[in-house]
Order: sequence, then structure tokens, then C-alpha cells
Amino acid sequence: MHCVPPVIRVVDVSKEYMASKGALKVVDDANLDVEKGAFVTLIGPSGCGKSTLLNMIGGLISPTTGTIYIDDEEVKGPKPDKIAMVFQDPSLYPWRTVQKNVEFGLEVRGVPQSERKSRASKYLKLVGLEAFSHYYPTQISGGMQQRVSVARALALEPEVLLMDEPFGALDEQSRISLGAELTEIWRKTGKTIVFVTHSLLEAANLATHVAVMSARPGSIIDFFSIEAEWPRFPEDPEIVEARKRMWSHINLQSIKQAETLSTADNDNVPR
Ligand SMILES: Nc1ncnc2c1ncn2[C@@H]1O[C@H](COP(=O)(O)OP(=O)(O)OP(=O)(O)O)[C@@H](O)[C@H]1O
Ligand SMILES: [Mg+2]
Repeated sequence: MHCVPPVIRVVDVSKEYMASKGALKVVDDANLDVEKGAFVTLIGPSGCGKSTLLNMIGGLISPTTGTIYIDDEEVKGPKPDKIAMVFQDPSLYPWRTVQKNVEFGLEVRGVPQSERKSRASKYLKLVGLEAFSHYYPTQISGGMQQRVSVARALALEPEVLLMDEPFGALDEQSRISLGAELTEIWRKTGKTIVFVTHSLLEAANLATHVAVMSARPGSIIDFFSIEAEWPRFPEDPEIVEARKRMWSHINLQSIKQAETLSTADNDNVPR
């Protein structure tokens, strides 16, 4: 067993939102430890609270009860020096070039121009876009835009990278190749990553650890490691086993969720 101290600790965390017919419990007593350098994929049925949990870890919203720690320090708001987030939508500034988009967060932090330039170039190279630094977002493909948003997050040189279905809008081929690039980057930079996905194959291919959430209100119902080497192959017995394990949870949780939804307020239907 490893003895690496956790970078992220989610301790007894619950979250309730106010909905039209009272409080809606979305996360229920979630617990999760993420060790330094881990690549954790977070899966669970739609609407179970994955984004809510990720946004709480990132300090964008606060838990109703329970505590989240990053490096033993309680998260009470965003920690831009330690945590960067990548969302499903690359949300680049259309009037800024690729290079200037990657530099943006560094500008906000007051990083001097020469360092901004060199850092942006370094990370654009890492995601294979150095030749496109002077292009505008509308001039590159969706997959390339998503790489820019990954470079933008990496350029902040955060200890922790939180990614919410970053490749969800892409076709399967782009998804697989970006996933492979991301694992390369992760191995080179040693970041701690939490990555939300709907794809069991993606979850198994990328992760050192898989966290499975129950149907809403979500809690972590399974957490296991995958030790297979990279590059990984879908037919590797350990990958097959991991996908079966995830599938059995998701199948059961989806049935539970369908039962809950059939009696739920329409306002609470997951997005
Ligand atoms: N700000 C909010 N106010 C009220 N309810 C919310 C809010 N944000 C999310 N919810 C509800 O909380 C539940 C969980 O949402 P969340 O986005 O965390 O789920 P998810 O697991 O990320 O879903 P998906 O897989 O579809 O992305 C949903 O029912 C959603 O409608
Ligand atoms: Mg979500």
C-alpha cells in the first residue's frame, strides 16, 4: 500500500440547495481522500451531485455541512494559487488569441509579461498547440479549444486540477486522444487531478483511482485503484474488471434514481 498523504480531503460533506418546494439535498455525507499525484475519475448517474462536489472542492460553492481540506487547510473559497478548474465548455475569450487566452489568468495575478509569455508557450507546447498560438478561438476546432483551456489551467501551475467533463462535448476519437495526452501531461507534471466523466471507458483509461457516486443525494459508494500501466488497452483484464465494477454500480444507481425521479418535483429534474 502507498503511504502518500492526501492533498484533498472531503470529510462528511453534504450540500442542500434551496428549490421551489424546499431544500433539495444533492450531496449526502460524502467522504473522499485524494493522495498527492493521484488521477481520480469521478463517476455517477446524471444529476447525482458530481459537479456540485467538484465545485465545493474548488471552493466555488460551500458545503452545507462537513469540511473540505486542501493540504490540511480548510477550503473556504477559491484557492487560485493551488487549484485550477477546467469545465466542459472551454469558455475562451473570442477576442484574444490562443496565446493571450492562456496568459489571461497570469495577467490577473500580475505575473510579469516575459514570464507570462514563456509559461503560455511552454504549456501550449505541452498540449501540442504551439503552432496555433496566434490563432483566435473561432479559427480552431472544438478539441483544440478544449486543449487551450487545459493549457490555460496548467499555466497557473496549480497543485490540483479539477476537471468537469472536459471532453464531454467532443467526438469519441478526440476524447480518446485528448485523454491520452492528458495522462502524458499528468505523468510529466505530477499534478493531482480529479476528473468527472460520464464515460466508463474514459474513467478506466485515465484513472489511478475511481470514485463512484450514488444517485442523488450523492455520496461516495465505492473507491478503488487501477494499477495497469500506460498506454492502457480496453481489453486489459484490469480495465475490463474496473469497467464491470463501475457498470454494476451505475446500473443499480440509475434504477434507484429513476424511482426517485418518478416521485420528484419537476423542478428537481437533473440537467
Ligand atoms: N444552484 C443550484 N440550485 C438548485 N439546484 C441545483 C443547483 N445546482 C445544481 N442543482 C441540482 O442539484 C442536482 C445535482 O446537480 P449536479 O450538477 O451537481 O449533478 P451532476 O452529477 O454533475 O449531473 P450531470 O451528470 O448531469 O452533470 C441536480 O438535481 C441539479 O438540478
Ligand atoms: Mg455535472
